[in-house]
Amino acid sequence: MPSSEFRRVALVTGAASGIGHALAEEFSAQDYAVALVDLSENHTRSAAQAIAERTGNETCWCVADVRDPDASARAMDKVCAKLRAPSVLVNNAGIVVRQKARLEDLPAGHLDEMMAIHVNGTLNWSRLVLPAMRAAGFGRIINISSVNAIAAVPYRIGYVTAKKAIRGVTEALALETARAGITVNAIAPGYILTDVLKKRAEAGILDRRAIADRTPVGRWGTPDEVAKAALYLASKDASFVTGTTLVVDGGLSIRGDAGEDLDNAPT
Ligand SMILES: NC(=O)c1ccc[n+]([C@@H]2O[C@H](COP(=O)([O-])OP(=O)(O)OC[C@H]3O[C@@H](n4cnc5c(N)ncnc54)[C@H](O)[C@@H]3O)[C@@H](O)[C@H]2O)c1
Repeated sequence: MPSSEFRRVALVTGAASGIGHALAEEFSAQDYAVALVDLSENHTRSAAQAIAERTGNETCWCVADVRDPDASARAMDKVCAKLRAPSVLVNNAGIVVRQKARLEDLPAGHLDEMMAIHVNGTLNWSRLVLPAMRAAGFGRIINISSVNAIAAVPYRIGYVTAKKAIRGVTEALALETARAGITVNAIAPGYILTDVLKKRAEAGILDRRAIADRTPVGRWGTPDEVAKAALYLASKDASFVTGTTLVVDGGLSIRGDAGEDLDNAPT
């Protein structure tokens, strides 16, 4: 049996803000020691400190660009030295940039950047945590995909392609690790009201009301609703769940595109 100590370290990438911050906070509230990885020293440190003060549990923070395998490996060493090797990895780092353009009009490098952050970042960090998870016979990898991996949207081909690729990574890695006590799953959030999207709504780039109306439950999701789904996937209760994508989208992806008003169902 793996030691209970091993099971209680969760590492979250992109943890300084938004969904990643909520993930780190929820894991910490559930008595995990939590490692936060992000790009900015100030933001990552203050997020880790704020969470530790709120929950009273151990946190550590590291600066690393998930695209960079060497920087990520150094960050992983720091986490192992300060806490222990993580038993839970949440690959959350990403950019929700709204690059609305046809493929032929996209800036050079945009597709590479999308793939590097979302896909290479997920692969880099999964490679780093797997040896200790295999040695312990227990591990949980949770990859943050998107509702756009279920239902594509036009003119965001880089984001859609990268998020769909995360489902492929999730399934292939789940098969590679299934006999090792490790599960690999993805979460596909719908519209989640994080600061980055709030600011976009305030700037008139996103129509906050229209998105709420279009979502069958009639509202945006909250970061902690994504985090709660991750807690389930990380738990022992989810031991027979692997290779799946858990959709947390208020019903958005199952809604057809007929545009009916859900509040005025025919009688
Ligand atoms: N907000 C939504 O509605 C929504 C919906 C579906 C999926 N997602 C996904 O959820 C994740 C988090 O989104 P969010 O809304 O919280 O955005 P956010 O911008 O608030 O958080 C993303 C975090 O990732 C970090 N990051 C970005 N690139 C990085 C890199 N190369 N290395 C390390 N850290 C990096 C950022 O600094 C930031 O702190 C993303 O993967 C996003 O695609 C978000």
